[in-house]
Amino acid sequence: MLIHTAEFKCSNTRTEKLPPPVLPEYAFIGRSNVGKSSLINMLTQKKGLAKTSQTPGKTQLINHFLINDKWYIVDLPGYGFARASKSSRGEWERFIKYYLKNRESLQCVFVLIDSRVPPQKVDLEFCFWLGEHGIPFMLVFTKADKQSKHKTQLTIAAFKKALLDFFEEVPQQFITSSETQEGRDEILTCIGEINKG
Ligand code: GTP
Ligand code: MG
Repeated sequence: MLIHTAEFKCSNTRTEKLPPPVLPEYAFIGRSNVGKSSLINMLTQKKGLAKTSQTPGKTQLINHFLINDKWYIVDLPGYGFARASKSSRGEWERFIKYYLKNRESLQCVFVLIDSRVPPQKVDLEFCFWLGEHGIPFMLVFTKADKQSKHKTQLTIAAFKKALLDFFEEVPQQFITSSETQEGRDEILTCIGEINKG
């Protein structure tokens, strides 16, 4: 699928103010600093579209980006931010989990995992939570340019193994790099297929 237009639509802290749920949308989520905003900029090929930062916790709002006037990419705040206070973590849980459970137009959640780290409890628990609530998701292993293909494959194998304690089959996986654009065609093709219905 080709992206002709990508524009920032709105930022929200409250789920009541989101755009009407009439266009298909795809949410990007994962631990703080895993590369959600960078991936969105890579997919849309618009560098400053989603704000990125080396400091974890940059994205604090639900950001909607309208693509080709037909569907949305949604940038979500990261989870597992070690320095976040307990109360702000609780707020994240309520707000984001409410959005994920109730958003009728949400087609699929892309869960981003750092391809350089062994399976993290917080990522696995989040996948289990999505599974429990029947929310469709796929896995995206990010920052693949930072290490060898072999090491990325080891991370993926370990993560899949951990998921199989809970799921009968593992969701689809993508390997991406915001630096080299690896994985771009695959993710956009996948979204194109879902949009076609
Ligand atoms: P929060 O909004 O804080 O949750 O972070 P985020 O998940 O949106 O991460 P962001 O896209 O802001 O990226 C965090 C840092 O990782 C930035 O310094 C990026 O330049 C870097 N980064 C992201 N993706 C890649 C990648 O594929 N390769 C490399 N080498 N660096 C990346
Ligand atoms: Mg971000």
